[in-house]
Formats: sequence, structure tokens, C-alpha cells
Amino acid sequence: MAFQRRIFSGIQPSGNLHLGNYLGAVRNWVKLQNEFECIFCMVDMHAITVWQDPADLVRSTRELASAMIASGIDPERNVLFNQSQNPDHTTLAWIFNCVARMGWMNRMTQFKEKAGKDRENVSLGLFAYPALMAADILAYKATHVPVGEDQKQHLELARDIAQKFNHDYGGEFFPLTEPQIFGTATRVMSLRDGQKKMSKSDLSDQSRINLTDTSDAIADKIKRAKTDTQALPETTEGLEGRPEAQNLMGIYAALTDKPLDHVVADFAGKGFADFKRALTEAAVAHMGPITAEMRRLMADPGYVDDILRKGGERARALSAPVLREVYDTVGFLRP
Ligand code: TYM
Repeated sequence: MAFQRRIFSGIQPSGNLHLGNYLGAVRNWVKLQNEFECIFCMVDMHAITVWQDPADLVRSTRELASAMIASGIDPERNVLFNQSQNPDHTTLAWIFNCVARMGWMNRMTQFKEKAGKDRENVSLGLFAYPALMAADILAYKATHVPVGEDQKQHLELARDIAQKFNHDYGGEFFPLTEPQIFGTATRVMSLRDGQKKMSKSDLSDQSRINLTDTSDAIADKIKRAKTDTQALPETTEGLEGRPEAQNLMGIYAALTDKPLDHVVADFAGKGFADFKRALTEAAVAHMGPITAEMRRLMADPGYVDDILRKGGERARALSAPVLREVYDTVGFLRP
């Protein structure tokens, strides 16, 4: 059976949207919305797998919605909502908890990274997180999921869950979702350490560019970004073994929509000071208008809440028939 092409992606409202989220995910979503039916979700239920101050969570959800709209996601054309507005996600997640195997979950590298040495003390939700993520996607029978590279393993697990569900219940109920990892910035690294992913949870704010940063803050962060001592290389091969140069040039290529080899050719033999000036200019020119629009939207929380509420209604209408089918398939009497 062929499934209708449908796109789903999610993002956590825990802290600021940063350049990694923007270049690795949101910007690609903006491009996809012209061609396909898209559902974009702010995953507040995922966020509480680690402690979130309630007031901060509400603020972050509104801020993230504002950032997405300011980045060009059209809330009329797409379904834009926060996860907790649609309880179908958690209902399906419970069923998937009973499909997924402990061994599969134990292999998740993101869990291992986040739990660290404190495995006994993290929430059960953090461990079960990838099953909820599979439910987010499959509650809509989404076929394609645009994400950054770090989500690849979770999406493989979603395929395993779909496959086992289909096998156990004897039908082709769920699609085997395809990850869409594209663009030149599928893994944006920290400005302080080119070997570490740019992340909301990094304690150093200097490690990331936030969508809320002022032009001065962006300039300052780029100025202080870690580099090495050599001049910039002549070819992309010359970036190998130079993670900071690779990261900064990758960011520049993504912001200016130029292929990386052109960027390398443009700055061949130059020092980091020249390059950082150009990068600052590109970052400020690209992010400035988005930040300004985001601030305008954040000043009107009623408008943003209304968009999310309407998005939630539309999301529930899309997942309802899928959940009815799941109830019948699993042997639950429908409400
Ligand atoms: P989250 O909130 O960590 O990140 C949201 C999106 O941003 C991408 N991303 C990056 N891309 C490039 N470089 C980086 N440094 C970088 N950091 C983050 C992520 O790959 C992601 O696409 N588990 C997910 C949220 C989620 C989800 C889903 C995604 C929940 N349910 C269903 C897709 C489908 C997460 O924590 O993303």
C-alpha cells in the first residue's frame, strides 16, 4: 500500500532556538512547505523528560512558535501546534512502549549521552522518549521527517517500531518513515569546540548563536569563536582535521546559500579575522530580520496561542482516524 506523502517534524521548546536548529531543521521545513502537507510540532511533552520550570516552558513554547513563524513557517498552510494539545501522541506512545523492545531502547546514544553516569536517576520518560517520538510521527502516518543528523538513530527506531507493529498485527498500518537530512548544515557544531554539537543544553551561551541574540551578541560570539592558527585552506579537503574551520565555513555556506567549495575558494589563504568579519556580516544580515519579526510576535502572545490552539485542532482531526484504526487493530473498544 502506498502512503500519501506527509511530512512531520518536531522541535523541543526547552530554551532558545539556536543556529543549529535553524540551519539543520527549521530552514529546510520552510522550503518543504511549498510542496507538501507538513505538520510541525513543538514537543513540550518531550521537553519535560528533563526538569522544566513551568513558567519557562510556557514562555519557551511561545518563543519557539514565534521563531518558527518568523523564520517563514506559514501557520495557515502547515499544521503548527504544541504536542500536549493532542493526547493521541501519548496514547499511541503507550502502545509503542509495548511494541518496542528494551534492547532497542538501550542502544539509543542520545539517551546514553543525556543520562551520562546518572542512569538510575533520570526519568523513565527520558528512556521512553524515542517511542513517543515514533508516535508523534506515526499518529499522522507521516512518510518523511526532515531533521538534523543527530535524530537519525531515533528515526531508525521509529521504522523498527512501525515494522514490528505491522508484523505483529498482520497489516501495513504504518509507513516506514524516511529521514530527510539535507542542506549544508546537518550538524552545526559549538562555537567553543568544533567537535561538540551546538546544543541548547550547553552551559556556555558563547557556544551557540540564539535566534534571540542581538547583532552585537552575534558579532561578539563569532569574534570569540574558537579557531586554529593556520590560514584558511585552498580546497575543501584542507578542512579535514580542522573542525573549527570546517564548522565556521559550513555555517557561512549555509547562511549565504553557497556551495562549500565556492566559499573555500573565496577565502583561500586568508586569515580567520577576514573570514570572521564576513561571517558576522552574513549572520547578522540573515538573522536580523528573523529576530526582529520574532520579537514582534512575542509581544502578542494571544495571537501565537490562538495559532497553536487552531493547529492543535487540525492535528487532532488528522490523527483521529489513525487512532480509530489502531484501537480496532489492537483490540481496544473505542470510546
Ligand atoms: P531538537 O529539539 O533537539 O532539535 C530540533 C531539530 O534541530 C536539529 N538540530 C541540529 N541540526 C544541526 N546541527 C545542530 N547542532 C542541531 N541541533 C539540533 C535536530 O536534528 C532536529 O531536527 N527528538 C527531537 C524532537 C522530536 C522530533 C519528533 C523530531 C520529537 N518528536 C518527531 C522529528 C520527528 C529533538 O530533540 O530535536
